[in-house]
Amino acid sequence: MNVTEAINWRHSIRAFLPKPVEKEKLDAVLAASVRSPSWANTQPWEIFVVTGDTLERIREGYRQKYADKAPAAPETPRPTEWPEAEQKRIQQLRPDMERMCGASVEQFAELNQNMFCAPAVVYVCMDKALSEWSLYDIGAYSQTFMLAALEHGLSTIPAITLTLYPDVLRRELKIPDNLKITIGIAIGYADKGNGINSFVSSRKPLDGTIRFFE
Ligand SMILES: Cc1cc2nc3c(=O)[nH]c(=O)nc-3n(C[C@H](O)[C@H](O)[C@H](O)COP(=O)(O)O)c2cc1C
Repeated sequence: MNVTEAINWRHSIRAFLPKPVEKEKLDAVLAASVRSPSWANTQPWEIFVVTGDTLERIREGYRQKYADKAPAAPETPRPTEWPEAEQKRIQQLRPDMERMCGASVEQFAELNQNMFCAPAVVYVCMDKALSEWSLYDIGAYSQTFMLAALEHGLSTIPAITLTLYPDVLRRELKIPDNLKITIGIAIGYADKGNGINSFVSSRKPLDGTIRFFE
């Protein structure tokens, strides 16, 4: 698989098999991810890899939160108001999913709430004192991680739903107070039999986005 193939092949997977991810594979993906660029080589990422009983405790903690209708409190805030163009694309997501995946789209919320049944989740954190430039670095790290995973037959999804209850994560993972939980990335083997995984989201046309000047 060359780089372009990997970029085109990657898409978010929302239903994983219960099969655990081999430690050597996780190690290899994590080792590749640190090759990501960062502002002045600050490498702001602080990584918490969660599997096994700890992940099950977090899943149970989240289940309890959903049952109690606890308010979500992700540490990276959503915009108070989306600009119109982005709002439109958000609204397009569900109809596109329904068109491509049919009834399997009904599992969307449940799979999100169940952490996509993933056998492993990687939380990418950074110091709260850092700025948006470092968030850029976290994004670069995340994409490198997701592309590197493909080489080992692993699929991923970055998801804000994985970060909805930081108090549960902080309790179980002992994440220090100075770190902000920016994103969670679920990783594992895709459940190819689940129709929701056949969803490939659209992309806006290149013209209108890219301005060339000569
Ligand atoms: C920062 C971020 C947060 C996301 N949060 C969620 C989420 O909470 N639940 C979900 O199902 N997908 C989530 N996604 C996946 C996006 O919906 C997905 O990346 C987008 O639709 C493009 O599709 P693709 O990743 O399959 O190419 C998130 C993606 C990013 C980058």
